[in-house]
Amino acid sequence: MNNQQSLLNWYQLNKRDLPWRNTQNPYLIWLSEIILQQTRVNQGLPYFLKFAQKFPQIESLAAAPEDEVLKLWQGLGYYSRGRNMLKTAQIIVLSNGGKFPDNYHDLLKLKGIGPYTAAAIASFAYNQAVAVLDGNVFRVLSRFYLISEPIQSSFAKKLFNQLANEFLNKDNPALHNQAMMELGALICTPLKPACLECPLQQNCLAFIQNSQLQFPIKLAKAKPKNRFIAYFHFQFNSQIAVFRRPSGGIWEGLYDLPYLESEEKTDANSWFEKGSKKKWYSSNQIIDLVFEKKHILTHQHIYAQFYRINCINKPILNFDESWVEYNQLPKLGVSKLLSSYLELAMAEPK
Ligand code: ADE
Ligand code: SF4
Repeated sequence: MNNQQSLLNWYQLNKRDLPWRNTQNPYLIWLSEIILQQTRVNQGLPYFLKFAQKFPQIESLAAAPEDEVLKLWQGLGYYSRGRNMLKTAQIIVLSNGGKFPDNYHDLLKLKGIGPYTAAAIASFAYNQAVAVLDGNVFRVLSRFYLISEPIQSSFAKKLFNQLANEFLNKDNPALHNQAMMELGALICTPLKPACLECPLQQNCLAFIQNSQLQFPIKLAKAKPKNRFIAYFHFQFNSQIAVFRRPSGGIWEGLYDLPYLESEEKTDANSWFEKGSKKKWYSSNQIIDLVFEKKHILTHQHIYAQFYRINCINKPILNFDESWVEYNQLPKLGVSKLLSSYLELAMAEPK
């Protein structure tokens, strides 16, 4: 039996039953792939189900307000992907009557759809013979073919793309692609590949020379940036001061609290002085440190502190702030970091 056939047999016996595998609807496949770029299957599944229930057709997504989409997206990170998804849905509905392009080339033209997603939709929905390349597939191929090129280089991307398409089972591209991803997720895992159960074992070069763990080769990552941020929860009667984060930068379009930032660790007194200089509060105002959290993003580590100030008069913060009902805030899209603060703050009202 050849590699491709062994792979398919293994897949049929061992695949997880996942809802996006039981459909050829390009919209639902697209939805699942965008969500799964953000997160692992277990965490992504409830998001997929929520979205698919709330927006069963592309038309219902296209008609949704952005805030509602971002709210559902909350916790997935990379909000620009949620936003692009909405824009793309609107474009497909307006310009193409809600019909998805049916081939790799045309899919690639859409906003937020890159080579990975285009190949996934083209093969899963239309059985087009294009290979899908995600982190899992890179790992499998790098081990199977013993590729020493660091996977971030553009040369490597071309090379892997070529190999993946050579390795592709042209008679069964949809199943083959799912099987490759599944093999990477379940068997050819980063730290403990289960080679003895692997359908590709006999021809896998890394297995033959016992060097699985050295692949894929990666360049060292840039050191993450440390950011120290003091968030201020200004409470005036039933209202809280928020602002909407501008475009560019992280958490675009989400609601956030006014904050101060420093590149060094900063103690409470120094924050107070800084806020006081901005006339955010008077020096005799009680400012309470209520929550601290280290929040890790791909390229930055945020050391966040949350300070609460119960205002007697409504302050003018000059932070593009608006005042919203405190108990309505969780209904607006907020970052995971702010949401972890709000969960705690709302559980113990002051
Ligand atoms: N990760 C990304 N796409 C996936 C898919 N279609 N099935 C399982 N895991 C995935
Ligand atoms: Fe990965 Fe091992 Fe299978 Fe090779 S034999 S593809 S290293 S699980």
